[in-house]
Amino acid sequence: MQLRINFSGRSIRYTEEEIAVVAEAMRNAEPLTQGRHLAEFESAFARYQGVEQGSCFAVMNGVSALELTAQLCRFKEGDEVVIPSHTFTASAYPYVKKGATLKWCDVDLHTHVATAQTIARAMTPKTKAVVVVHLYGYVADMPAIARLCKERGVLLIEDTAQAIGAEIDGQKAGTFGDMAIFSFHSHKNLTTLGEGGMVWIRDRKLWPLLPMLRHNGHCAYGFERPDYWKPAMGNVDMPMLDGEMLQPNNYSLGEVECALGTKLLERIDAINDAKRARAMQFIDALKDYPELEFLREDSRRHNYHLLVARMTEGPAKRDAFMRAMHDEKGIKCVVQYIPLNRYDYYKKLGLGEADCPSGDLFFDTMVSFPFQLWMSDEDFSYMTVAARDVLESLRA
Ligand SMILES: Cc1ncc(COP(=O)(O)O)c(C=O)c1O
Repeated sequence: MQLRINFSGRSIRYTEEEIAVVAEAMRNAEPLTQGRHLAEFESAFARYQGVEQGSCFAVMNGVSALELTAQLCRFKEGDEVVIPSHTFTASAYPYVKKGATLKWCDVDLHTHVATAQTIARAMTPKTKAVVVVHLYGYVADMPAIARLCKERGVLLIEDTAQAIGAEIDGQKAGTFGDMAIFSFHSHKNLTTLGEGGMVWIRDRKLWPLLPMLRHNGHCAYGFERPDYWKPAMGNVDMPMLDGEMLQPNNYSLGEVECALGTKLLERIDAINDAKRARAMQFIDALKDYPELEFLREDSRRHNYHLLVARMTEGPAKRDAFMRAMHDEKGIKCVVQYIPLNRYDYYKKLGLGEADCPSGDLFFDTMVSFPFQLWMSDEDFSYMTVAARDVLESLRA
């Protein structure tokens, strides 16, 4: 059967107003990077998040943001980072690159994210940092996790790549820990033309370092120049933290993307609300089939970046479901986030074992439905009916 609904790599379509903002920046932004749109995006993002002005830094993608947080942790030999094995690889490898040893923690089978208990179990006296991933768009229990990290004196980093706009009691994901990262990749509910990211840093002392770390170590001279061209356009220095040298890079996000990011912040709540409303519709339409178990969260705690479910009757039934959806209904569901310890990359680092039964079980039985917001109502209804039909036929 021909594919009717693909699992799209693109989350949203842009409005004419958003396209006009892009066209305007393309025509007139000067320079095309490091300009006013960058400053405006960071400021608008901080306002949206309810965090201090000056604490958010736009970068070219979520991985750059993660690399910055990893560098700011300043790992020493033997330092450990607790991180769920059930996540996307980008959550983890920046910490490997900066010298940390990873310790896998499990996720809750129902919410698919780490809990204070699963994190505590993976902590040791060597734990330097914890990375919490609000996977699929659901905010982990941050008050409890933040309390735990504070008690143990470890850094808390939120991978909010998938959870922009999700919140607990009015407090946005990505504001509970010490640092947070966001992704504006093509798949995400807010995407700045396919790539983009943001890093939030709580500690003010670190703020002056970020523009340097992000942009080649560029900084101002520490003296007045009678001739603006001497000694050169600008200074380059080594970003220093408590006497330690940090390494700069170029992680800058262009002006066109920043202009679009600012504009999209006006619509992100509506995007999230629309995705959540659809998720509720889909989950409720399948409520008579408890063998397919969803996380039903009808509040802003979930932005339903992705719509995932678990086939409680095991992997063979999951495979049969996905096959029938594809072959008989033309709908491409996918399976996501191989537990990281199963990848060759992590096996070669000696990280091939993980005591994470819930993450493993979830992965082995999960289904991720196509959930691009631009799917037509007609296709969405078709997918709902198709899923019901397939579940019914699998019972026979
Ligand atoms: C959970 C998670 N962390 C990190 C990233 C990395 O973001 P980016 O692709 O913008 O580098 C992504 C997504 O792509 C992600 O889903």
